[in-house]
Amino acid sequence: MSNKDSVQIAPATGKLGILLVGQGAVTTTFIAGVEAIRHGLSKPIGSLTQMATVRLGKRTEGRSPRIKDFVPLAELADLVFGTWDIFEDNCFEAAEHAGVLERAQLEQLRKPLEAIRPMPAVFDQSYVRRLHGTNVKAKGSKMDYAEMLMDDIRQFRERTNAARLSMIWCGSTEVFHTAAAVHQTLKDFECGLQKSDPEISPSQIYAYAALKSGVPYANGAPHLTTDTPALLELARDRQVPVSGKDFKTGQTFMKTLIAPGLKSRMLGLSGWFSTNILGNRDGEVLDDPGSFQSKEESKLSSLEHILQSDLYPDLYQHFDHKVRIEYYPPRGDAKEGWDNIDIFGWLGYPMQIKINFLCRDSILAAPLVLDLVLFMDLAQRAGMRGVQEWLSFYFKAPMTAPGLYPEHDIFIQLMKLKNTLRWMRGEDLITHLGLEYYD
Ligand SMILES: NC(=O)c1ccc[n+]([C@@H]2O[C@H](COP(=O)([O-])OP(=O)(O)OC[C@H]3O[C@@H](n4cnc5c(N)ncnc54)[C@H](O)[C@@H]3O)[C@@H](O)[C@H]2O)c1
Repeated sequence: MSNKDSVQIAPATGKLGILLVGQGAVTTTFIAGVEAIRHGLSKPIGSLTQMATVRLGKRTEGRSPRIKDFVPLAELADLVFGTWDIFEDNCFEAAEHAGVLERAQLEQLRKPLEAIRPMPAVFDQSYVRRLHGTNVKAKGSKMDYAEMLMDDIRQFRERTNAARLSMIWCGSTEVFHTAAAVHQTLKDFECGLQKSDPEISPSQIYAYAALKSGVPYANGAPHLTTDTPALLELARDRQVPVSGKDFKTGQTFMKTLIAPGLKSRMLGLSGWFSTNILGNRDGEVLDDPGSFQSKEESKLSSLEHILQSDLYPDLYQHFDHKVRIEYYPPRGDAKEGWDNIDIFGWLGYPMQIKINFLCRDSILAAPLVLDLVLFMDLAQRAGMRGVQEWLSFYFKAPMTAPGLYPEHDIFIQLMKLKNTLRWMRGEDLITHLGLEYYD
């Protein structure tokens, strides 16, 4: 099946302004990486938009363009950056503090990084309890904050002469909360902003400001933000794409690689215990039980969905799944994760798998940020609005239409992403049926 009337995609001319909420480890590693690539110092490793290809037509046709040559994406040379943070450090100082990249490498990028200074943040201590910063906006109602942010967006657009914008949350994880009455309709939400309803979190104020300004919004953290009827209504009304939640890096990335494999061979699971140590600021925030609960919910959901215990009760009905995160400062950003997986096979004989992943959180997350901001901009130019389920590939807890279970299997997610690109360009979708080769 193909979309022969292929989608009209506006060209990616002019600059693309990337607005990042939070200028911590992920943001600084992302910006420094883009600068390094632009200066020819490195390659965009880990980025699908920059390195991956997409097969078109039959295997015998030999057509596999790079994604960036197949769909019109903004060029790295055309990206300009703006950030908000509660700390005043410029992007160079913040990158130094994050301690992800080596000093000598950062020195090479000092000039462009020093030029990026974070705009004062909208911050509420009750949503991120462990941090205290001074670079925050003057007191006002939540609607005042939304207007201040819209003003920031307008000024950034003018200052940088950006033709389009794409916004992404790379700020701290807010405490767990679920949709309340104020999140049910846009009218309720706007009333709530006027009254500074305590159920409206800072991330929702940023998202509201983005969507009102016609700017796509992606959520790299696990908290609710746009996953509410009110903000989805706004996204639809304004024809703006949204996506989330929580970058799929480290341990959940491993989980979504291994679990589909076990299921594909009908091997059973009796338990999966995951534990991590990390010592960056994210780890410090997640040391608070409220923020940890947001993360835990997002980390736990993938296995249940992949294994489908309702369809395979003999294999997956009673497995124990535990996730622990320990804040351990000596590790900094170099997280270490351990997984102990208890599985069973033929005649119920038990086996174990152990994974010890010595990863670097922000090194894994940075290329995801790049792909997301570029694809969200593409989606907007292609007239796509609301939840972008085809970007599930990037998230631990993918957003979906109400009532639809999320697809967590990373290989299905990748197929969905590439088929969406084929669909956009009017190419045949790839079903992997393959009978035609044997006719
Ligand atoms: N690194 C990964 O692999 C990974 C994976 C999944 C999700 N995440 C999520 O991405 C986010 C960023 O991670 P990080 O390692 O860069 O964390 P970080 O702590 O280094 O950076 C977050 C920054 O956000 C700022 N901030 C907090 N509240 C803010 C607000 N209201 N407005 C503006 N700035 C605010 C903080 O001051 C901090 O500088 C976290 O929520 C994390 O859970 C990261």
